[in-house]
Amino acid sequence: AKPWTVPMLADAKREGRKLVMLTAYDAGFARVMDDNGVDLILVGDSLGMVVQGHGSTLPVSVDDIAYHVSCVSRGLQRALLIADLPFGADATPERALDASLKFLQAGAAMVKLEGAAHKLDVIRFLVDREIPVCAHLGLTPQSVLRLGGYKVQGREDKAAKQICEDALAVAKAGATLLVLECVPSSLAAAITVASPIPTIGIGAGAACDGQVLVLHDLLGVNTGHRRPKFVKDFLAQGGSIAGAIKAFGDDVRSGAFPDAAHAYE
Ligand code: KIV
Ligand code: NA
Repeated sequence: AKPWTVPMLADAKREGRKLVMLTAYDAGFARVMDDNGVDLILVGDSLGMVVQGHGSTLPVSVDDIAYHVSCVSRGLQRALLIADLPFGADATPERALDASLKFLQAGAAMVKLEGAAHKLDVIRFLVDREIPVCAHLGLTPQSVLRLGGYKVQGREDKAAKQICEDALAVAKAGATLLVLECVPSSLAAAITVASPIPTIGIGAGAACDGQVLVLHDLLGVNTGHRRPKFVKDFLAQGGSIAGAIKAFGDDVRSGAFPDAAHAYE
């Protein structure tokens, strides 16, 4: 299969081909994912929790992400590599540009940032400078101090409406991909229909244009945090690490994952 490029993401949405995304932090796992049909690989700031052992994503630095992007990038031939802008790195457009340049120089093809509001200016600033951007709405883990925990977002009408408006706004600002985390399946479905850019769900139901999971969750590696409802241990199903990654991709493409037991309503 051809290596992924940014414009191919829009083609996939138009043609109804599901996008399969996982997080990776090193070259070895990245290679197994690349060999087993994973389309998009994210060096997530989940790094802070699953690799570094922190209680949140807030302590992760730009240099931490850049290092792992350089590791992951050496394992890839086909998948598109996305790098998370860690907490604070997208506080101003200039800071976001500096961090994004490091990530692109380390091998990423796109950067991801959480939220809308003042982040719309950041998205426009990066996109104007030829840096592809993935947005992230719903449960945004960098908001944990304000939210007081990791909870499903958009359950009330007003909150749901805000997330819908934000979804259209990030696309209008130039984002080419949108992660929706921990929102009711019906809300993610409505956003996916309305959104001109592909949606990637995590705890957002099966209607999204693609799905993402954190590697450690996919493999049932316990990192000391309560396991959210949307997490499924694909190692049990796949029988090996390559098998688990392949099973995830197969189930995303067939629509078997996520089922109602791994989603919110
Ligand atoms: O940091 C991360 O792993 C993420 C995904 C869960 C989308 O942002
Ligand atoms: Na993240």
